[in-house]
Amino acid sequence: MKPGHRLMKHFLQFKDLRAEEYAYLFERARIIKQRFKNYERYQPLVDRTLAMIFEKASTRTRVSFEAGMYQMGGSVVNLTSGDSQLGRAEPAEDTARVVSRMVDIVMIRTYEQTKIEAFAAHSRVPVINGLTNEYHPCQILADLFTYIEHRGPRGATDPLQCLQGKVVAWVGDGNNMANTWLQAAEILGFKVHVSTPSGYEVDPAAAGVSDTSCYQVFNHPLEACAGAHLVTTDVWTSMGYEAENEERRKAFVDWCVDDEMMALAQPDALFMHCLPAHRGEEVTAEVIDGPQSVVWDEAENRMHVQKALMEYLLLGRIG
Ligand code: CP
Ligand code: NVA
Repeated sequence: MKPGHRLMKHFLQFKDLRAEEYAYLFERARIIKQRFKNYERYQPLVDRTLAMIFEKASTRTRVSFEAGMYQMGGSVVNLTSGDSQLGRAEPAEDTARVVSRMVDIVMIRTYEQTKIEAFAAHSRVPVINGLTNEYHPCQILADLFTYIEHRGPRGATDPLQCLQGKVVAWVGDGNNMANTWLQAAEILGFKVHVSTPSGYEVDPAAAGVSDTSCYQVFNHPLEACAGAHLVTTDVWTSMGYEAENEERRKAFVDWCVDDEMMALAQPDALFMHCLPAHRGEEVTAEVIDGPQSVVWDEAENRMHVQKALMEYLLLGRIG
C-alpha cells in the first residue's frame, strides 16, 4: 500500500471507524469465528506480515494477534522496547518509516497516544492500537461482539440493533477502557453509567467524545449498576501507573463489583472484564467466576474480531 493511499485506514481509537463499518466487522467476525470452530482453513493473508510492537506487557493481545495472523496464512514479527532500537531512543517516526517498508500491517501497544499517532503519520501501512494510556479499541471491539453474541437475536441482519438504548455500567478507573467505552457509546447509540472514585473521573475531552450525552456519572457504584445490561470494570492500577498503586488501593476500595451490584443490574445482565483481573480488588471471585460472567468468551473473541479487523484494513470489504 502506498503512503497516502486513499483507502488506507488506521485503527488508533474507536472513533476511527463508523457505525456501518462496525456492523460489517461484527458480521465478518461471526463468519470468521464460525470457520475457526469448524476447523475450516481460511487464509486470505498469505504472504502478509504483521509487526507487533510491545512497550508494555501482554498475554491476550500478543497471543490473539499472533495466532490470528498465522491462522489467516500470514506471518508475524514481534518487537519490544527491550530488544529493539525503540528502547534506545530511536524515534517512533523513524521506526515507522523503516518497519512499514517491510511489513503490511503494524500493531502497537505503548504509553502515550501521541506516540502511536506519530508512528501512524509516518507509516506506509495500517496501524492498530493494541492499547495506549488513553484507549484500548480492540478490547471494546471484542466486548461489543461478545455482547451481541450473547444478547443479540439469532441471525440478526443488523448486529448493532441490540446495542441501541442499552446501559453499560463502568465501575472503576476513568482509564483507557472507560474512554473507549464512551467513544463506542457515542458512535453506536448506547449509554455508559460511570462510577469512579473522586480524582479518577472520565473527562470528555480526554475520552475524545463530543459532549457528555453518551454517559452519566454516579457517585456510588451501586447506582451506576442499577438497571444496567452489562456491568464491567478493570484493574485499579493500569500499566504505567504502578507508582500510584498504594494510593489507588485506598481510593478504589468501594469500587469492587460484587453480587449486590449485579443484583441491581438487569436480571440477565452480563459481566465483562478485559483481564487480567485481581479477584478481591475490582471484582469478587463470585462475580467473575459466576454465571453472569462472560470473560473467557470475551478474551477469546479478541482473536476473532482482530482477524476481521486485519482482513478489513488489508483487503477491504469481502464479498
Ligand atoms: N485485555 C488485554 O489487553 O490483555 P493483555 O494485557 O494480556 O494483552
Ligand atoms: N487498563 C488496563 C488494561 C489492561 C488490558 C491497563 O492499561 O493496564
